[in-house]
Amino acid sequence: MKPHFLTLLTAAALTIAVAQTRAQAPVYLDVNQPIEQRINDAMKRMTTEEKVALLHAQSKFSSAGVKRLGIPEVWCSDGPMGIRDEVLWDEWEQAGWTSDSCIAFPSLTCLAATWNSDMAALYGKSIGEEALYRRKNVLLGPGVNICRTPINGRTFEYMSEDPFLNAQLVVPYVKNVQQNGVAACVKHFALNNFEVNRSSANVIVSDRALYEIYLPAFKAAVTEGNAWAIMGSYNLYQNQHCCHNKRLLIDILKSDWKFDGVVISDWGGCHSTDEAVANGLDLEFGTWTGGKTWGRSNSYDNYFLAKPYLDGIKSGKYTTTELDDKVSRVLRLIFRTSMSGQARWGSLCSDEHYAAARKIAGEGIVLLKNDRNILPIDASKNPKILVVGENAIKMLTLGGGSTSLKVQRELLPLDGLRNRFGAENVTFARGYVGDTTTTFDGIDTGQKLADHRSAQELTDEAVRMAKDVDFVIFVGGMNKSNGQDCEGTDRASLELPYNQNNVVSAIVKVNPNLIFVNIAGSPVTMPWLNSVPAVIQAWFIGSEAGNAIADILSGDVNPSGKLPLTFPAKLEDVGAHSVGEYVCKPSFKVVDVEYKEDILVGYRWFDTKKIKPLFPFGYGLSYTTFSYGKPSIDKATMTADGSVTVKVDVTNTGKRAGAEVVQLYIADLKSSLPRPAKELKGFKKVQLNPGETKTVEFTIDSSALSFYNDTKKQWEAEPGAFEAIIGASSADIKGKVKFELK
Ligand code: BGC
Repeated sequence: MKPHFLTLLTAAALTIAVAQTRAQAPVYLDVNQPIEQRINDAMKRMTTEEKVALLHAQSKFSSAGVKRLGIPEVWCSDGPMGIRDEVLWDEWEQAGWTSDSCIAFPSLTCLAATWNSDMAALYGKSIGEEALYRRKNVLLGPGVNICRTPINGRTFEYMSEDPFLNAQLVVPYVKNVQQNGVAACVKHFALNNFEVNRSSANVIVSDRALYEIYLPAFKAAVTEGNAWAIMGSYNLYQNQHCCHNKRLLIDILKSDWKFDGVVISDWGGCHSTDEAVANGLDLEFGTWTGGKTWGRSNSYDNYFLAKPYLDGIKSGKYTTTELDDKVSRVLRLIFRTSMSGQARWGSLCSDEHYAAARKIAGEGIVLLKNDRNILPIDASKNPKILVVGENAIKMLTLGGGSTSLKVQRELLPLDGLRNRFGAENVTFARGYVGDTTTTFDGIDTGQKLADHRSAQELTDEAVRMAKDVDFVIFVGGMNKSNGQDCEGTDRASLELPYNQNNVVSAIVKVNPNLIFVNIAGSPVTMPWLNSVPAVIQAWFIGSEAGNAIADILSGDVNPSGKLPLTFPAKLEDVGAHSVGEYVCKPSFKVVDVEYKEDILVGYRWFDTKKIKPLFPFGYGLSYTTFSYGKPSIDKATMTADGSVTVKVDVTNTGKRAGAEVVQLYIADLKSSLPRPAKELKGFKKVQLNPGETKTVEFTIDSSALSFYNDTKKQWEAEPGAFEAIIGASSADIKGKVKFELK
């Protein structure tokens, strides 16, 4: 049917009208114009007051836009494991909304334990969609600080002890968040590797360690992931706070890496207008984090980048060069996100997001020990199971600092196990009482966890009940209370808290079929390890905790996670505590913390010093077995601008399908500077059916062989002999091939 004449006329009129509106629309509003032109146009229209107003908070998590020009506010949210509840305008306290519950995704250590960049992409996509639905423009995450010490209270928020692993995962995470039109704000830049004294510690570190260990993940996030925002850290470096640190922000981030995004201060991390103006801070948040308690005129208006900045510009103390640079960055962020012109809505608590959380958890849980093949537990045989431990019944998505979440639901381990093995088969004993608090920032989980029995009574009950069952599943570990896996404090020791070691030892005496499930973001010691047949490292898994743990214990999912952190036998074995400095005595004065272990962080230290850990970096078992062929290399010599390819066959020699993480380490056999025994330079997760063989290939170039030369201030690959080492972990070496760099 032909369109009616009038319809054609109306369509033509509409086209003209739209074209006219477009023609008349200011360039900054025209989403079809290049972003840089939109920025220039908007800047020309703004007053100095409006510009300054863009550069600091107006509430706990938002900064003002320019109302007069229709430029919206910027809304941030923690991050990085779920979208935080809405808080009161000026307080950390929740605002009491009923529409702001989210999904808690697994902790970033769990993500790192998947050793799978597809999981990082899925994570970024899912959390980005949740952020978008909640109208957030900036997700405050991911965190990629190197796990220098296992007692850092925020270990669970970060990824691993290895810069290569972190870099491989942060890039897909960031890209997939940002595909939603939500900026990822990679944190905490840089050298924030402890919580005690986090605002007063001045980190002393060599350039070599800075470039080789502490910066690569940030660099990858910026140069490969194109992160739109980065968060300065609380600590100092070269005696300057990192939120306005010339070397880190101006010289490295903005000049060398050409970062065109926004540097956001950590909440309360800004301390000086002069430094903030000159040294690269763009957006100030959280100064005097008490917010309104100080009164509005003492808070937002007086932020370092608010009135003091405006006054300084007016009096000629500051030029407008820095101002325009900062404003253009904030506008770029707005045009990339809320004013990108793309209609996207995101989704919250969708089935897909729950499935993603469960999948990532299933791939990140690590099977540390499985004697007698006690796992998986065959549910079809209706085994009698006793579950012991507070972490089986306590919601662990709440608390821990800025990662605390108000979740739509959290399936507890006990419920997950009951669902899978039958409620009639699963009994529960508390075993120990840890922290019974169920509130944080105004959110109450409503759980009733109080139990006033003595430690002896609790142990006796667990021991008595353990005698009558086929298996005991002890769900313990740590929680999000101060001094454990929690922001603002570090752990006092590596030991499991709350008498857990004694309870485990007492139970295993009466029932040797004990499976220990360690819910913790960081390593713990296991003095009972010789007598306990099975251990899984279950991290903090979030909303799908119960399902993911049941998936692994029942064998519905074959474990394929590998440790992204070395589990030391004792704290003194860690480089940072052995020769390096770790300042644990709280101080308000600036205290130096020297990273004397230098580049020997994590397994680099353990390998080089030949110290045997409890469990090595890269380690994890499966319910099947894998055999490795002899690795081969395509050429014996690599040229400076060339590459080599290392190949190895991996076969599933067991009866179940499973995935193996094949790891490539490089050793420099002779070098002018000391180097670690070996360094991770490649990894691949391969899925194999029983009997199946796949060839895993790694192509590396000279960047995988290089070190940072402090004196020459450049990366350098020295000609000479190298070894490509194939491992199932950093300690389980399957084969080596030598080659030469010419
Ligand atoms: C944390 C950041 C967090 C911010 C906002 C700070 O205390 O260090 O990681 O994003 O608070 O909650």
